[in-house]
Amino acid sequence: MSGKLSYDSSNLSGFVGPAEIRAMESEIRKAHDFLEKRNGPGKDFLGWMDLPERYDESSLLEIQKTATNLAEKSDLTVIIGIGGSYLGSRALIEAVSSPEMKGRTVFSGYNLSGAELESLLSELKRKDFSVNVISKSGTTTEPAIAFRLIENMVVEKYGLKGASERIVCTTDRDNGALREIAREKGYKSFDVPRDVGGRFSVLSAVGLFPAAAAGVDILSLMKGARDQKLEMSAMGVTENPAYIYAASRNALYRKGKAIELFSVFESLLSHTAEWWKQLFGESEGKSGRGIFPSECNFSKDLHAVGQLIQDGERNIFETFLIVEKEVSGCAVPFLKDDSDGLNYLAGKKVDEINRKAYEATARAHYAGGVPNSTIFIDERSAYCMGKLFYFLETAAAVSAYISGVNPFDQPGVEAYKKEMFRLLGKPGA
Ligand code: PA5
Repeated sequence: MSGKLSYDSSNLSGFVGPAEIRAMESEIRKAHDFLEKRNGPGKDFLGWMDLPERYDESSLLEIQKTATNLAEKSDLTVIIGIGGSYLGSRALIEAVSSPEMKGRTVFSGYNLSGAELESLLSELKRKDFSVNVISKSGTTTEPAIAFRLIENMVVEKYGLKGASERIVCTTDRDNGALREIAREKGYKSFDVPRDVGGRFSVLSAVGLFPAAAAGVDILSLMKGARDQKLEMSAMGVTENPAYIYAASRNALYRKGKAIELFSVFESLLSHTAEWWKQLFGESEGKSGRGIFPSECNFSKDLHAVGQLIQDGERNIFETFLIVEKEVSGCAVPFLKDDSDGLNYLAGKKVDEINRKAYEATARAHYAGGVPNSTIFIDERSAYCMGKLFYFLETAAAVSAYISGVNPFDQPGVEAYKKEMFRLLGKPGA
């Protein structure tokens, strides 16, 4: 279990420099103290900082065993959840699980598409399946509707006893409709820690259980998070890369860079970018403030929004996530007649070409007035993903504190719910 994470901010030069970061030291220190002394806004939701140690080996093995048993019972494991209740595990499974295990995992409950649910239900009719339903509040409408439909099918197919062996709930220890259902029907359950908010919960049972069901090595994942925490806590506040990233974002925002692109060149990291988007969007976007977080999947998006990034309004900065050692052997073949003119690349691995695409894009965007920085992880492994999650969670918390908001609430999310409940005639709405 090894692998490094590093942060390279050289392409911020001319936009934000080391002197400017040093000048922000008191702001960074204040944010750092909020975390360390646990006395800042949202101080009751700092449990994410303890998760790498809170789950000891035996509780991780217990999660792994239950998840493996559940997955082995069936062809398909259905993960139901929305927002922080599914994005982390989805990112992890997409990045790390084997293609076979990915094919045996399906996500639901994160939208209200009747067509998508109908097609899933018809697939489930034909397949052996199990369910992990995740909701901290236990009352969120989208996953609750999906669960009602899917639970019905489990009971129809396997009976009440079968359902109790095939459904696992992850929710609050005492409260909420889902806890009530688990209690009444005898479903196995895991707790969402009270002091951990949804978008900071990937390293709790919320992310660990589905990841383990899809074969992710959750012990390595947690070791990665622990090591990242240790490494960063040994650093001074102006050397900590998560703090430098957080401070740089704020410095750029103050100069009118109001949009951040999180750009990946590996499509298996596209849900990591989705997870990042929620983490920063919900943590920072409040009180009339906030950088708009958007993700790009390159090369695809270079042929969609590349023109705008290179040449449009200069209100963008960019953060790349790059894997140093991709291991695919896929290489460009030699062609006798070189009809497509690609022989100059013959023998080169596609990942090597992809690396050049990243280097070229970073250079071109910088030259075009888009400051950019890069988070490098050594490998697409559970260990490195653990490091990345802890790094980005720390950066999100510190960045929100620097910008003067509570990183751990999301009052704005209620507005659409209230309107929807009114329109749907929910009793009491
Ligand atoms: O970060 C958050 O708190 C949210 O994104 C929640 O995870 C999301 O709204 C789902 O909530 P719940 O787990 O209560 O169903």
